[in-house]
Amino acid sequence: MLPRHVAVVMDGNGRWANKRHLPRAAGHKAGVNATRKIVENCAKKGVEALTIFAFSSENWNRPESEVSSLMSLFVSTITAEVKKLHKKNVRVCFIGDRSRFSAKLQQSIAESEELTRDNTGLQLNIAANYGGRWDIVNACRQLAAAVRDGSVALDDIDEQLFDSSVCLSEMPAPDLFIRTGGEQRISNFLIWQLAYSELYFVDTLWPDFSDDDFEASLDWYAGRQRRFGKTGQQLIDDQAMQSN
Ligand code: FPP
Repeated sequence: MLPRHVAVVMDGNGRWANKRHLPRAAGHKAGVNATRKIVENCAKKGVEALTIFAFSSENWNRPESEVSSLMSLFVSTITAEVKKLHKKNVRVCFIGDRSRFSAKLQQSIAESEELTRDNTGLQLNIAANYGGRWDIVNACRQLAAAVRDGSVALDDIDEQLFDSSVCLSEMPAPDLFIRTGGEQRISNFLIWQLAYSELYFVDTLWPDFSDDDFEASLDWYAGRQRRFGKTGQQLIDDQAMQSN
């Protein structure tokens, strides 16, 4: 089965560049090519949503020169790619706190969202200055404010309502999480939304992540039995009931 929503931590750009004695920025640039490929593949295959971690809230701690080269890369990439994405019916959305970005980057973000907002193909969510804990705290603030102004009762707060207050609540949670670069951690990505995702870790560095590598991750996913807390036998019984 094809995942409806794929989430990706695109790790390994820096190491890819180091191996070639290139500046880290060259690794990020090469990473854009791999990003383009996975976006095209998802759009072609009919994946509903792809969420990529472009810049975490913690990435501000990198050397200033790397942060500024990443920011320029974001502006140039968005400007160069958004029209092509629009032609492919891709809807582009950003999640994260964009207020810390330059006016120019905020404008590129807003324009790309505006241009593609009515598209009905793949939804590409770009997490930029995003952190899973930030997302959860934000949801808490929204709900606390709603309780304070009386529009929500404290007893009404349950998982479903909380879920509707975090980012990406309008779409199914990621079915498949992919992390390249060999590390096996979530790194404060969609920590609420990944609760039941299948986690796929691969050593390949992001710029080397090919169509075949993506295909391999989809094959691996297709072989998973998603139990959501149930037993394997219950799932077999559920399936039999559905086909009757
Ligand atoms: C992690 O690799 C990668 C990033 C922090 C940046 C990812 C960004 C892109 C691929 C550009 C995408 C562009 C847009 C507009 C969506 P790393 O630097 O941590 O690698 P390392 O672990 O080898 O050092």
